[in-house]
Amino acid sequence: MPGILLGDKFPDFEADTTIGRIKFHKFLGDSWGILFSHPKDFTPVCTTELACAAGLGDKFAKRGVKMIALSVDSVEDHRGWSKDVMAFSSQASSPLPFPIIADDKRVLANQLGMLDPDEIDGDGIPLTARCVFVIGPDKRLKLSILYPATTGRNFDELLRVIDSLQLTAQKKVATPVDWKPGDKVMVLPNVSDAEAATLFPNGVTTKEVPSGKKYLRYTQL
Ligand code: BEZ
Repeated sequence: MPGILLGDKFPDFEADTTIGRIKFHKFLGDSWGILFSHPKDFTPVCTTELACAAGLGDKFAKRGVKMIALSVDSVEDHRGWSKDVMAFSSQASSPLPFPIIADDKRVLANQLGMLDPDEIDGDGIPLTARCVFVIGPDKRLKLSILYPATTGRNFDELLRVIDSLQLTAQKKVATPVDWKPGDKVMVLPNVSDAEAATLFPNGVTTKEVPSGKKYLRYTQL
């Protein structure tokens, strides 16, 4: 079955894009990367998503994340659509701040398991679902999400997730439900109390639960 799993090396594909032909790993360099796919150019939900992503470009850049979109149309269509997107986001004089991959033959969509069988184009061929892949500087897949074409994504949530991925890549912590940067984090279950005491100088607090097990350990970084 096509697709890619967490921890897999992300394919170093070559593709035509709105900034020319790229090799994906070279495009990423030492940065983190986010690749998000769209069902089709010149469609309403996709346009709102791309406009939102364009507006958040500085926030992704601040986190050292290179953005790239994908849709199953040609570079020429992508260029025309990009102008609509920037006009929709009231920045008509600026270019779209990230490239769009032209996957009109659906080579990557197939390879990465991105097709949505419920969304068919005029020729009866499936369109791409709304996939998100976050790739680490080691070129391994750190996160994937897959929405159907009929449900738009929340790009603020993607920034929040990237904050968690980048934090938990550095420290032996995990982020709890609805965590936001600055909130308390949880000590990983495989860290002993003795190690936690040395790793987290701000202290560790443990929430008591009926089982008496001491697994709900919080710290403030
Ligand atoms: C949209 O972007 O609006 C869309 C595209 C394909 C199927 C459904 C919605």
